[in-house]
Amino acid sequence: MLVIGIAGGTGSGKTTVVDKIIQQLDIEGMNILSQDNYYHDNHNLTLTEREALNYDHPKSIDFDLLIKHVKALKNHEPIEQPIYSFVTHGRTGDHVTVEPKNVLVVEGILVLTNKELLKEFDLKVFVHADSDERLIRRIRRDTQERGRDLNEVLHRYQTTLKPMHQEFIEPSKNEADLIIPNMRQNSVAIDFLTTVIKNSLRKH
Ligand code: C5P
Repeated sequence: MLVIGIAGGTGSGKTTVVDKIIQQLDIEGMNILSQDNYYHDNHNLTLTEREALNYDHPKSIDFDLLIKHVKALKNHEPIEQPIYSFVTHGRTGDHVTVEPKNVLVVEGILVLTNKELLKEFDLKVFVHADSDERLIRRIRRDTQERGRDLNEVLHRYQTTLKPMHQEFIEPSKNEADLIIPNMRQNSVAIDFLTTVIKNSLRKH
């Protein structure tokens, strides 16, 4: 199994990159584990308390479970992936069964920050977009899709997202084998990445 880690700040366009790889690779048998499904549950806290948490710090992620699941899939065992809700800021209690396949993509803002998880990746990718571009995309998404208001998004950006990005996410770029500039459509980088994946698959 080929395991690929794809990181990049919020709004950098990781999902778009992953979608394009899926289209171009055109292979059956690719799993995607999103770091978003591995936020700690925090159901012991009230909703107001959960709303106030820092979701951009590595400690907010249940890396133990994520690593356990990556290892299980590599070991050809199915996993029960938890489902996370951005509305309640917690696990829904539902699970989805993921069967092992040939390629596993693990994506999320913090997936290149954890030393143990890094050991599991065959290929490490960092998707880069400038911070103003990322902020614009984040405002659009949080107001249009996650029911948050503009002041809340800007406040969170200044107090949490920006400092966490500078402290943890941007430095994790050093771990990457490949950095994708994603300010606009970048078909060259996607072609390059899919070629690297195809070559690696041949070797595996
Ligand atoms: O899709 P993206 O990589 O941007 O998702 C990560 C972002 O989700 C983080 O920047 C974090 O602030 C946000 N998040 C949130 N509410 C949660 C959990 C994460 O806004 N309950």
